[in-house]
Amino acid sequence: MSRYWSAVVHGLTPYVPGEQPRLPNLVKLNTNENPYGPSPRVLEALRGEVADSLRLYPDPTSQRLVQAVAARHGVVSSQVFVGNGSDEVLAHTFQALLHHDQPVLFPDVTYSFYPVYCRLYGIAYREIPLTDSLEIDVDDYLQTSNGGIVFPNPNAPTGRLLGLSDIERLLQGNTASVVVIDEAYVDFGGTSAVSLVLSYPQLLVTHTLSKSRSLAGLRVGYAIGHPDLIEALIRVKDSFNSYPMDRFAQAGAVAALEDQDHFEAACRKVIHSRERLVAGLEALSFEVLPSAANFVFVRHPRWEGAELTARLRERGIIVRHFCNPARIVPFMRITVGTDEHCDALLGALRGIVLDAGVTSSATP
Ligand SMILES: Cc1ncc(COP(=O)(O)O)c(C=O)c1O
Repeated sequence: MSRYWSAVVHGLTPYVPGEQPRLPNLVKLNTNENPYGPSPRVLEALRGEVADSLRLYPDPTSQRLVQAVAARHGVVSSQVFVGNGSDEVLAHTFQALLHHDQPVLFPDVTYSFYPVYCRLYGIAYREIPLTDSLEIDVDDYLQTSNGGIVFPNPNAPTGRLLGLSDIERLLQGNTASVVVIDEAYVDFGGTSAVSLVLSYPQLLVTHTLSKSRSLAGLRVGYAIGHPDLIEALIRVKDSFNSYPMDRFAQAGAVAALEDQDHFEAACRKVIHSRERLVAGLEALSFEVLPSAANFVFVRHPRWEGAELTARLRERGIIVRHFCNPARIVPFMRITVGTDEHCDALLGALRGIVLDAGVTSSATP
C-alpha cells in the first residue's frame, strides 16, 4: 500500500493464478494444462523465428495468425481478433463491449477473472446463481436487464456443458447486449458456438491455445464475432499495446492451428483419460460432476476439499481448491493428466480415503 497508488489500484483484488511450483517429480493437476506437448511443427516454427529477425517488431495485426484462425473456423479475417492469451482477449472485451449502464451478468460459480476485470474497469456486475446441480439455467439470464452476459462453456470450474440450443435460446432472448461465450475448454467435449456467429451479431466466442493446443506457455487466445465487435476490440488493443503478440506467439500459433491431426489425437487421449479418471474416482465414492472439459470437479461425502488437497500435496500431487463461493468449498478441481498422472492421483486418494486408521475432518 502506498500513497502513490491511484484510487483504482487501492480498489483492486487481483486474480490469483494456480501455482507453478518447480519441484521434481511433481504431479501437477492444478491449472488445466495439457499433459501432452504441442505439435512438433510449433517447435520448428519457433526455431525459424530465432533464425529470423528478432530485432524487428512483429506484425502488429498478426495477419497470418488471424487468417489461420479464420480458416480453422470457416469465418473471414474481419471476424477474428487475436490476443496475448484469452485472458487479454477477455480483458479487452470487458472494456470494449461490456462497460454499460446495466450490470454484466455471469454465474456465481465461474472463471474468477470476470469480477477482477469488472473491478479493474469499473463495471457493475451481478452473479447469477447456478442451479442446485451447479448448472447454468438460461432463463435466469433472460429475466434480468443487463449490460452483457459472459460465461465459459463448458463452465469452469464445474466442467458442465450447456447445449447449443440453450445458447441459441439465450441469444434469441437477449439481443440488446453482447453475449460472450468463453470456450477455453470446448475442444474436450463441447460443440462450439462459432457456428452461430453469422446469425447473431451480439455473440462473441473466445478461445485459447493454452489447453487443447498445449500452448499455455506461448500466450495466445482469440475471439470470433461480428466485424463490428472485432473492430471495438482492435480499437482497445491499439490504444493499449500495438504488439501484444510477439513473433514466437504468432508463428507458433499458426503452426499449431495447422496441425489438426496432432490436436485431435491429444484431445482424444485427454478425453479417454478423463473417462478412466472419473470411473476411478467414483469407485472411491467421489461425486464427479459431468465434465466436458480437461478437468473434473469432485467432492467426497466424508472429506473436505481443502483437507484432501493438503494431503495430496504432501504426496507430491497438486490439485486446485477454491475457498469461495461457499457452496464449492467441499470440491476439488482436478486437471486430467496422462493415465500415469491419474493413476498416481487415484493411488494417493485411495490411501487417504480408505485408510481406516485416519479420521476424516469432514462432516459426514
Ligand atoms: C474459463 C477460462 N477462460 C479463459 C482462460 C484463460 O486462458 P489463457 O489466458 O491461457 O488463454 C482460462 C484459463 O485457465 C479459463 O479457465
